[in-house]
Amino acid sequence: MIISSSIISLDFLSFEEELKKTERAGVDWLHIDVMDGQFVPNITIGSMFLPFCKKATNLPLDVHLMINQPERHIEAFAKAGADYISIHIENNPNVLRTIQQIKELGCKAGIVLNPGSPTESIEEVLPFIDLVLVMSVNPGFSGQKFLPEMLPKIKKIRKLIDLSAQKILLQVDGGINKDTIKSVIEAGADVIVAATAIYDYPQGIKAGVDALRNY
Ligand code: DX5
Ligand code: ZN
Repeated sequence: MIISSSIISLDFLSFEEELKKTERAGVDWLHIDVMDGQFVPNITIGSMFLPFCKKATNLPLDVHLMINQPERHIEAFAKAGADYISIHIENNPNVLRTIQQIKELGCKAGIVLNPGSPTESIEEVLPFIDLVLVMSVNPGFSGQKFLPEMLPKIKKIRKLIDLSAQKILLQVDGGINKDTIKSVIEAGADVIVAATAIYDYPQGIKAGVDALRNY
């Protein structure tokens, strides 16, 4: 299981120290939630944060773009050090072109599905991608309740990936904690994203990561 830790919930007053603590706690990737206040109601951080994450840790950067017209920003994120760049299917009429753009810049490409988006909407892009991200909350905020209704969708996509015989990672994001993680892993997820369950864990970051690992 790969744990991707969503940095929007860390204490930005101690950015460097929190990132180092995150790495020492044994997470595998850093998840960067980029929101534009248009595609989702909230505004978070942009590509300028990535080089600082790279300086503070050796963790791969997993960028989740919740923005309109992502094609305008792919190059900036790639140049800033992104390893994975994931874009949503819902607001992308030329999704394949954007995926190709991500790959040409040397990054791995992911496609993201909102809770209301059907599995079928990504079937045709599967041969071109490295990761599928299933949202288990409505994107926009951390700290929301996991939607168990997404479990059948996770299972369905797991089957599609296995049938394709391609190397595609299945990631799930939203409301994952020590109580919900088991169902997500059993449904077939390879990568889980967590913010609240790591940064708001009462006993600290390391205990939060351990609680996820030992679900
Ligand atoms: C939601 C973001 C998530 C979120 C996860 O829009 O994409 O990555 O920060 O937060 P938790 O783990 O608190 O649900
Ligand atoms: Zn995310």
